[in-house]
Amino acid sequence: MGRSVNKFYLTTPLYYVNSKPHIGHAYTEIAADTLARYHRLASNEDVKFLTGTDEHGQKVDKAAREAGMMPREFTDKISLTFRDLWKTLNISHDDFIRTTEARHVKAVQAVWRELEKRGEIYKAKYAGWYCTPDETFLTEGQLVRENGQVLCPDCNRPVEKIEEENYFLKLSKHHAWLAGEIRGGKNLRILPETRRNEVLGFLDNNELQDLCISRPKNRLSWGIPLPISDAHVTYVWFDALINYISAVGYGADEKILKKWWPVDVHLIGKDILRHHAVYWPILLKALDLPLPKMIFAHGWWVQGGEKMSKSRGNVTDPRDIIAAYGVDAFRYFLLREAPFGSDGTFSEEALILRYNTDLANDLGNLLHRTLTMCEKYFGGRVPDYKERSGASSVEKNALKLMVAGDEMIDAVDTAMGTLAFSEALGAIWDVISRANKFIEESAPWTLFKEKKSFDLELVILTLSEVLRDTAQAVWPFMPHTAEAMWTQLGLTFPIDRLEKTPAKAHTTFGVKIAKGAPLFPRIEIEKNPTEVPPNNGHTG
Ligand code: MSP
Repeated sequence: MGRSVNKFYLTTPLYYVNSKPHIGHAYTEIAADTLARYHRLASNEDVKFLTGTDEHGQKVDKAAREAGMMPREFTDKISLTFRDLWKTLNISHDDFIRTTEARHVKAVQAVWRELEKRGEIYKAKYAGWYCTPDETFLTEGQLVRENGQVLCPDCNRPVEKIEEENYFLKLSKHHAWLAGEIRGGKNLRILPETRRNEVLGFLDNNELQDLCISRPKNRLSWGIPLPISDAHVTYVWFDALINYISAVGYGADEKILKKWWPVDVHLIGKDILRHHAVYWPILLKALDLPLPKMIFAHGWWVQGGEKMSKSRGNVTDPRDIIAAYGVDAFRYFLLREAPFGSDGTFSEEALILRYNTDLANDLGNLLHRTLTMCEKYFGGRVPDYKERSGASSVEKNALKLMVAGDEMIDAVDTAMGTLAFSEALGAIWDVISRANKFIEESAPWTLFKEKKSFDLELVILTLSEVLRDTAQAVWPFMPHTAEAMWTQLGLTFPIDRLEKTPAKAHTTFGVKIAKGAPLFPRIEIEKNPTEVPPNNGHTG
């Protein structure tokens, strides 16, 4: 994957701090973490993984008031809950940016000055509809009228009519250029394909209205002041998007900006596609900066057929899930259950099923059985390297399994190139099932009885090697699990780069193993499966 490139910069959206993090937020974050870890493991790139919190605007201001707190005090508190959850989830971000930080405020103000200098903005009177919770202006045609109410088409809540003087970013003049860039797909790739088509459809069917990028202070003071007007603050979306460049030195350090920009992947949810695929590229163009290389919009976790969100009141607290099933089972479930890009239905029943089948039965058992046999037949030391002559059926199967292990590395690499996490896991689990089948086929207990020591050594050795490959491949998805596997296999840290034979730094040949408790003890489903079972002694 992109081995000639020497840096990889990826971002998550900045999460609104109007409420605590939920599964939807955890999803974007876990996906980004997995991608970042994969790049660190499988390439020579210098990786920067940026995440953070979006702290200005009416929504946050309102939530602070409702909590009886000053916005600053409130955002400090909620931003910390995100940071804490990321720590629990083993998120390996390199930078966490808050839009209330001085470095960001300075960059946003530098952007204002630059846009004014370049003639990309203007001041005008605006009269129209506004959705406060979404902080979006709406045209007459976009509104939904129901039972005498005027509603926002996105969130279905009532909109307000407002009239005020604001600053606007010229979008219309960039319309044709942007459509061309997206269609060409060379400088700006939007994935999955359905999302790219959605943006193109939007551009083909709509005139681009210039974007209102300020808010009058008399209506909202919780925002970044404009360096060019005392009467306004910055529109929260405009402020937030700029984080992607403020975190890498925009307006402060040209060398750092040059090193990291353009970003390699912006990871977002499909609800914020237009902001990232239309407004953001135009803003970059207006600043004369290169476009993001890839924008990937993932799907939603739904419950009861609706997007999980605070306003719908159908959110599950990730902490409850982690407490019951462990961090890694949660990470695994989110990335395995639904193809990245599609929606997924979240349920504990589905999670328990994945846990018991994929984690306890397939992976957990493979490791435990192998190490138990290694102890029983070889006193806990993996047999040393064996040249395979290909004579016996055990040898043939062992060779096939080793080849499958190598092929898995390629399959994972290809899948990760398009953020197909579920496919990558599928390729890893394919090898895990083959390895379990290999145990059944070679029946080591019979080989032991019949004193076929060469074949027996080969079986244990091959399984240890494949488990080593599996631990490496699994690490970006489930770091605790991979590290526990590595330890039990008796290997020394750090986990080495994911490479095919013969380039591997660690082999299991002749290594003394350190068998531990099974990684994923089975969860016995009780009478009421929707109840969260007690901690099951999982790792992580
Ligand atoms: N603050 C803006 C983003 C600014 S980026 C410059 C925002 N924040 S958010 O907190 O509402 O959402 C952050 C991310 O969480 C989005 O990618 C969104 O898609 C994701 N999710 C929120 N709920 C979700 C689900 N139910 N399912 C999956 N992800 C969803 O938008």
